[in-house]
Amino acid sequence: MTASPLFSCVDITLDLGGRSILRGISFGVKSGEVMGIIGPNGAGKTSLFEVLSGRISPKAGKVSFAGRDITALPLHKRARLGIGRTYQTPIVPEDMTVAQVLKAARQAYKPYLTPDDSEWGAGLVDFRIPGAMMADRLDTLNRRKLLIACLLMRRPSVLLMDEPAAGLINSEIDELDDIMRVLAKELNIAIVLIEHRMELLDTIADRVLVMDAGETIAEGSFAETLKNPRVKAAYFETESGEGLH
Ligand SMILES: Nc1ncnc2c1ncn2[C@@H]1O[C@H](COP(=O)(O)OP(=O)(O)O)[C@@H](O)[C@H]1O
Ligand SMILES: [Mg+2]
Repeated sequence: MTASPLFSCVDITLDLGGRSILRGISFGVKSGEVMGIIGPNGAGKTSLFEVLSGRISPKAGKVSFAGRDITALPLHKRARLGIGRTYQTPIVPEDMTVAQVLKAARQAYKPYLTPDDSEWGAGLVDFRIPGAMMADRLDTLNRRKLLIACLLMRRPSVLLMDEPAAGLINSEIDELDDIMRVLAKELNIAIVLIEHRMELLDTIADRVLVMDAGETIAEGSFAETLKNPRVKAAYFETESGEGLH
């Protein structure tokens, strides 16, 4: 593939509360590609998403989308360009039904979308919950599906997904795997996937970037990076491997 990345960052540096959180993170992801980001807890993965999504400005570095420098654009403007983000914890509004959540997403900003748009988004993630159900009664998988459907109805071209498999059982991860495959390979969305569930990364990620203590310590295929001595040291220094998040 020779296409240039749709979404990229170069030399991202971030300090928070007087501490260095990110140091020189760079990568690019093309349409239809899934790039995994792994690394021990506290490595800075979610902080990187704060920068990529526009919630926090980096100290230095550049974020680009479709050849345009978007480093100074706030979150809502990046969302309108087609950069969607999901969060580690799938928080849904309290006191709203599923149908109300979908409607609110359709009407979040102009152009307002139609019920057909939200049905399309819900269909893509196989979300089959009746509209009258209260959103805060949904289980973790269906919360994630609802929130992803809200993003999909806007036809994003980039998705930043922070640990979408967290809290899911294996059969649910298989379902998520199928959904993500459709998003990347059929809708041609560029996906950046923070994940520690190896079973999902192994099957879905085209490439993996490994972070530790705010830096990139390896990049390549999932199998290659796991053989890298620095990655082994970062990951498997805890006997159970539970340092991996
Ligand atoms: N708002 C903040 N202020 C200060 N430090 C923060 C803030 N948010 C995150 N951190 C710190 O940044 C580091 C990276 O955290 P995070 O990005 O959540 O890592 P990961 O997602 O890889 O587990 C941690 O040491 C965390 O304590
Ligand atoms: Mg995190």
